[in-house]
Amino acid sequence: MDKVIALTKRPAFRIGVGLVLLVLLAGAGGGLYLTQTPPPQPIQFPHNLHVGIGAQCQYCHPGVAWGPTAGLPSISKCWGCHQQVQKKSPELEKLAAYVSRNEAVPWVPVAIQPDFVHFNHRPHVAAGVACESCHGDISKMTVAEPQPRQNMGWCLDCHKTMAPENFTRLSDCSICHY
Ligand code: HEC
Ligand code: HEC
Ligand code: HEC
Ligand code: HEC
Ligand code: HEC
Repeated sequence: MDKVIALTKRPAFRIGVGLVLLVLLAGAGGGLYLTQTPPPQPIQFPHNLHVGIGAQCQYCHPGVAWGPTAGLPSISKCWGCHQQVQKKSPELEKLAAYVSRNEAVPWVPVAIQPDFVHFNHRPHVAAGVACESCHGDISKMTVAEPQPRQNMGWCLDCHKTMAPENFTRLSDCSICHY
């Protein structure tokens, strides 16, 4: 015991522990920063403004009701409104340029799982799970912000809150990996 106490008083030991803590904290902080900052998008699309004027999530992401892919709006959907809603704005000039070239906007995905995970919106939306519980409060964001740590534990932590007879099905490897 005395030896252990003596050891912790040694400067080299303290520096060692300090360095380990520093590395761990920097790693955690850096990870958080990297995972929550949205990647640069081709247009700074403001979700807040659009949700504010009453546009529904499903109007632009209709796939959530029936399939695995929520989908992103095409330039013709944007232009359906912005042909009328014009204002001097560098971001809307970028949109007009894509439209005049008839070119899809190359949005960068932020909510994405690896190929070996099969996620389907349909059962979640049908069970009444709100978009916000997985994507954060998009109605207050401009472009979508990535949500940290959406790993297997995250899926299962929520599935665990279901009735036990349902959890048996909802934790079966083959519902998410096939
Ligand atoms: C339902 C109609 C509608 C659709 C669809 C729509 N917008 Fe908008 N958008 C608006 C309105 C209304 C505003 C607010 C204009 C204002 O501030 O007066 C707006 C604002 C914007 C702004 C902010 C302009 C600025 O600098 O203030 C951008 C950028 C934008 N929209 C891009 C898009 C893109 C890209 C799409 C397609 C993915 C799209 N919009 C689809 C109606 C729409
Ligand atoms: C239970 C959690 C959960 C809920 C609830 C949820 N999502 Fe998702 N969403 C995800 C996951 C996980 C992905 C990544 C899927 C992938 O890469 O296979 C995703 C991907 C997306 C994407 C981008 C990729 C694509 O599918 O086109 C959009 C857009 C999206 N969600 C919109 C919505 C909207 C709108 C709602 C509400 C109607 C919603 N989500 C509800 C978990 C959720
Ligand atoms: C007017 C159309 C419009 C509306 C309304 C809208 N979105 Fe989006 N959404 C977009 C566009 C364009 C993008 C791509 C740019 C970005 O990542 O923000 C996007 C991206 C997303 C993403 C990330 C997609 C990916 O590929 O990773 C999620 C999640 C999402 N939206 C959820 C929502 C939710 C939840 C709502 C309702 C609260 C909503 N959106 C309303 C147009 C819309
Ligand atoms: C916020 C809670 C929540 C989160 C997070 C969540 N789920 Fe779910 N999941 C549900 C609910 C609720 C159901 C519907 C349960 C039912 O139908 O009995 C469901 C159902 C499912 C089903 C359908 C099972 C079937 O065959 O009926 C799959 C597959 C699934 N989830 C995969 C995932 C994956 C993959 C993730 C993580 C990327 C995830 N879920 C994250 C709540 C969640
Ligand atoms: C509710 C959905 C769901 C279920 C059920 C599920 N997984 Fe996963 N699994 C995931 C997700 C999400 C990831 C994480 C992908 C990522 O971001 O790396 C994952 C990752 C993995 C990985 C990759 C290792 C890693 O950590 O990235 C393995 C191996 C794996 N799962 C095996 C299993 C096995 C075995 C079972 C059954 C005992 C199972 N999974 C059940 C959703 C699920």
